[in-house]
Amino acid sequence: MTSSAPSLPPQIRTARLVLRRQHPEDAHLIKEAVDSSLPHLQTSVGWAKTAPWPLALQKQRLAISVAQFDAGTEWAYSIFDADRTRVLGGAALMPCDAPLATLVGVNAFETGYWLREDATGYGFATEAAAALVGLAFGRLGGRRVVVCHDPANTASAGVPRRLGFRFLGTVTDEQLPRRLAADGTVRRATSVWVLDG
Ligand SMILES: CC(C)(COP(=O)(O)OP(=O)(O)OC[C@H]1O[C@@H](n2cnc3c(N)ncnc32)[C@H](O)[C@@H]1OP(=O)(O)O)[C@@H](O)C(=O)NCCC(=O)NCCS
Repeated sequence: MTSSAPSLPPQIRTARLVLRRQHPEDAHLIKEAVDSSLPHLQTSVGWAKTAPWPLALQKQRLAISVAQFDAGTEWAYSIFDADRTRVLGGAALMPCDAPLATLVGVNAFETGYWLREDATGYGFATEAAAALVGLAFGRLGGRRVVVCHDPANTASAGVPRRLGFRFLGTVTDEQLPRRLAADGTVRRATSVWVLDG
């Protein structure tokens, strides 16, 4: 990690959850969470299309996540239950990429989240995202936090809505390129929510 890279805590405790920065030693727990929820994830997010992944590949992906966390380019956490025995999902925070920054302005951070299927319906994604939103404004000095999702993903829209985000609108793939649809293709449109600090 360079001395100028912004840093976030390796572990965050919320009322019911522990968010721990992604680490290869958790690969088997993350794999179990993803593999237990394939239809749920594969109908919602493009990254799950190629799952299930062999454990070795899962570890490789997590090693990339470690490097990104240390470089301050993306902070990805596993969402654990309170006693840290079970992965419930994941949540991440990252600086907005250039096309998104063009839409929402500078010094903005994007957050994203997923839950294993049997952990939905309890407010865990909202709780995890709230913690990352707090860090974006507090620790990182962000001006704005953004949530982007496929317009069809109404469950995802519930998270920013519960956290008081404002719906900015639905933009085209030309305005926000390279966002994946659930089938793994580039999606035609993306819904964008913003919250100002
Ligand atoms: C998107 C996703 C994380 C949303 O999950 P979720 O369970 O709806 O979201 P939360 O964990 O915030 O839970 C909210 C639900 O719990 C309920 N709830 C119960 N206790 C709660 C509490 N203490 N606080 C908030 N909500 C609570 C809410 O009423 C809500 O239920 P409702 O939708 O029936 O009204 C989940 O559907 C998912 O993993 N999808 C696949 C991956 C994905 O699409 N990720 C987003 C990509 S952009």
